[in-house]
Amino acid sequence: MDRPIGVFDSGIGGLTVLKELASKLPNEDFIYYADSKNAPYGPKSVEEIINLCDEIIKFLLKRNCKLIVIACNTATAAAVVEMRTRFQIPIIGLEPAIKPACLNTKTGNIGVLATEGTFRGNHFLKTSEKYIDYVVLHLQVAKGLVELAEKGIFVGQEAEDLVKQYTDPFSTSNIDYLVLGCTHYPYFYNLIKRNVGPGVTVVDSAEPVARRTKDVLMTNKLFRTEKDNRKIVVFTSGDISIVQNVVYQLFNIDKNSSQVEIKFIF
Ligand code: DGL
Repeated sequence: MDRPIGVFDSGIGGLTVLKELASKLPNEDFIYYADSKNAPYGPKSVEEIINLCDEIIKFLLKRNCKLIVIACNTATAAAVVEMRTRFQIPIIGLEPAIKPACLNTKTGNIGVLATEGTFRGNHFLKTSEKYIDYVVLHLQVAKGLVELAEKGIFVGQEAEDLVKQYTDPFSTSNIDYLVLGCTHYPYFYNLIKRNVGPGVTVVDSAEPVARRTKDVLMTNKLFRTEKDNRKIVVFTSGDISIVQNVVYQLFNIDKNSSQVEIKFIF
């Protein structure tokens, strides 16, 4: 079926998921919406996030998307259940990758970095309840990292200080897995990894969500049939140059490529 897959996030975070989706599904067209004007979603109320998701999904459906990936843990926590009742196409949500960490931990201690909105959500509470008898989850809200990423800043003193502030507490928790429960945090992977050290495996949700998307495409017979000229279009409600730089770097493409098109929403 030659219709695009819609992907969105509160900003540029979900591009880390789009990268994995684009690589696992090389024939698919994608439309990505970065709602940077409204980032961060973390401190917003459930009702506000539901309204924002509703508008974005309508925007993506107008562009004929066949499936939606909410590439944002916070938006998933607040809105995925409601969105599935409002829209009659498959909607895939994203949640912190606690399961693989719980299944593989040897110390029984897992660190989780996410927004307050994600930790508040039923999704997270339900998943963590399942493992609570077997592992200890050490939760940490990483305030400020989303805002920094939205400015296009991924390295430097401010980023280092924030990462240190949020990962230092794990040093006394005996964690061997750290789950990045926000799609903006992989931009700080190197800093995070350096801070937690070689004994801690740092995981995110991009790979499992791409696998899940492939599965849903197969089950619903939604694969794109054309084999070439796939197109990725990125819309942003924020600063177009920041999105441009991130996309070019992440996808390793030059600025004149027609493979990826970036547009600004007024
Ligand atoms: N990328 C979003 C997430 O995965 C960021 C949340 C925010 O905007 O606060 O949760």
